[in-house]
Amino acid sequence: MDIEGNKNMCGIFGCFLKNEKAAPVIHSSLKRLEYRGYDSVGIATLFDGAVFLKKGQGNIDEVHKSLDLDDLPGNIGIGHTRWATHGAPLQVNSHPHSDCTGKIAVVHNGIIENFNDLKLELQNLGHTFVSKTDTEVISHLIEEVMKSKPSFSFADAVQEATKRLEGSFAIAAISSHEPDKIICARNESPLVLGINDNTGDVYCASDITAFLLLTNRVVIINNGELVVLTAEGYLIKKIRDNSLIERVPEIFQWTAEMAVKQGYPHFMIKEIHEQPEVLRNTLRLQDHYLDLMSTFLDRATEIFLVACGTSYHACLAASYMFSKIAFLPTYPVYASEFIEQYGKSVNIDSTILAVSQSGETADTIAAVTCAQQRAATILSLTNAIGSTLTRISRVYIGTQAGPEIGVAATKTFISQLSVLAQLALRLAKKRGKVSQDEIDTTEEQLDKLPEIVNSIVKTQEDKAKQIAHKYAKSNIFFFLGRGISTATAFEGRLKLMEIAYIPSLAFPAGESKHGPISLIEHGIPVVFVCQKDDTYKTAISNIIEMKTRGAKILAIIEEDDDEVKALADDYLEVPKNIPGVLSPIPFTIPLQLLAYYMALEHNCNPDMPRNLAKSVTVK
Ligand code: G6P
Repeated sequence: MDIEGNKNMCGIFGCFLKNEKAAPVIHSSLKRLEYRGYDSVGIATLFDGAVFLKKGQGNIDEVHKSLDLDDLPGNIGIGHTRWATHGAPLQVNSHPHSDCTGKIAVVHNGIIENFNDLKLELQNLGHTFVSKTDTEVISHLIEEVMKSKPSFSFADAVQEATKRLEGSFAIAAISSHEPDKIICARNESPLVLGINDNTGDVYCASDITAFLLLTNRVVIINNGELVVLTAEGYLIKKIRDNSLIERVPEIFQWTAEMAVKQGYPHFMIKEIHEQPEVLRNTLRLQDHYLDLMSTFLDRATEIFLVACGTSYHACLAASYMFSKIAFLPTYPVYASEFIEQYGKSVNIDSTILAVSQSGETADTIAAVTCAQQRAATILSLTNAIGSTLTRISRVYIGTQAGPEIGVAATKTFISQLSVLAQLALRLAKKRGKVSQDEIDTTEEQLDKLPEIVNSIVKTQEDKAKQIAHKYAKSNIFFFLGRGISTATAFEGRLKLMEIAYIPSLAFPAGESKHGPISLIEHGIPVVFVCQKDDTYKTAISNIIEMKTRGAKILAIIEEDDDEVKALADDYLEVPKNIPGVLSPIPFTIPLQLLAYYMALEHNCNPDMPRNLAKSVTVK
């Protein structure tokens, strides 16, 4: 039985209970969804013809402590645990979101791409918005439909409203106009129903984890479907043409732990599989954020790309992207070295682009604070809106990957690369140094990356597993790449080293003959990241250098690369025709899979590597 992964951030839950108060059940179900997001939380219930609502900033326990989330009347309700995408994690931006009258409440998981246009349209019609979220347009849109089409039922109004939404959504909505139902709808973001035959209760949620302790009878909702939950059960119809859909519940034999990992054995492999969706989310970034940040970068006199760990590798890749298509020099710097290296020279003309998944890494914050004190401009990319980094940045962009639980960064790296590539493209357009043709091709391929990455995961996972098995006894690995693939090679090496504990070296391939090659002995595996850009021919010479000294060549190549196939002992493939500046995105995927399966070969837990932490808040 197949169920989708954690499509993006936030968890939603709703329930229609026969004989119980809804709020405590919503509260405990949200707790089980907390791994999807935990920066704010809220619940709305229906009782006596009115909507009751509590919400606040903080994780569920914190908000419950101050607001008592269980203390809401009624047996119908919806709830939400949030991971901010639009608007900082403040009380006002927490879900559920109401309309102007307070008679409608909506929770939402996903990203509404056209929310700015809809907001403007609704504001012109007199609607007052209180939050900075994309979600709030949904409640006002429903309100507007109900006002302009009085014959419409609440379900009709939700249906009509969802037809206007572009982007991804799983929503649950209630209204005091019809206080005997919950309406849900889905496009892209996951939505499932739980049917409890013992009690007659029905649930809707982002995933089955939310209600698995209550029932394992599950109805999966597909894209473009709307659901009406009532005392009688559930009714599913197509949003487009109103046609009714009959679907009986399936039985899920998952344990609670399996459910949180969506059936995957580890978070890391689940997160690797989520990458196509994460890329789709990053491609939904609002234009004005990218424009604003690229304007700052375009005007900057000197730019430092500052980060630690995997985020540093994203910066390294970005320095090639910015240079190659935007002709903009930037300096990637390890955050832990920044103060010593540039602390005295950084000044009002300097711009720092800090990249950090957590937005809390002590060295990154220290470097940025030092630069800020010297009047530099601070820009940042982070996966945690509301983090320290966002608070000290002039402009920041959220990388839209959702919470990452595996300690070794995977999907957040891919999301950083995608945002950085989009910034490089904006800069390329502004600076006009490369041909429109090159920009068009790169943009086309960027749009295809979710599909490309999906196909890599599907076709290369088994091969990566076999290769991991074949090389499991090797006690040292080399990783080499030229040009932008140096960054990919560095990341591949870090992944293998940190989760499988195999000593590994990574170098720009050109550097290998200045020392590292002396370590090469017969049978040592050398992983070559070999994209077909200007560096290709020289990379082949470097492969031959290693091969003639007895190294085993494990190449990551484009699928039509017969020349390297003929040289390699083993290879993993990505689709062909990927522009060099985008290559770290697809080429990293086989390396993540290799590291993951190598960790399993060595009986290591890839989710919790020894001595490492997800967020390093000490220097
Ligand atoms: C830790 C994590 C890495 C991460 C690095 C930087 O070492 O284990 O996965 O790349 O911190 O974290 P940041 O949150 O700043 O990206």
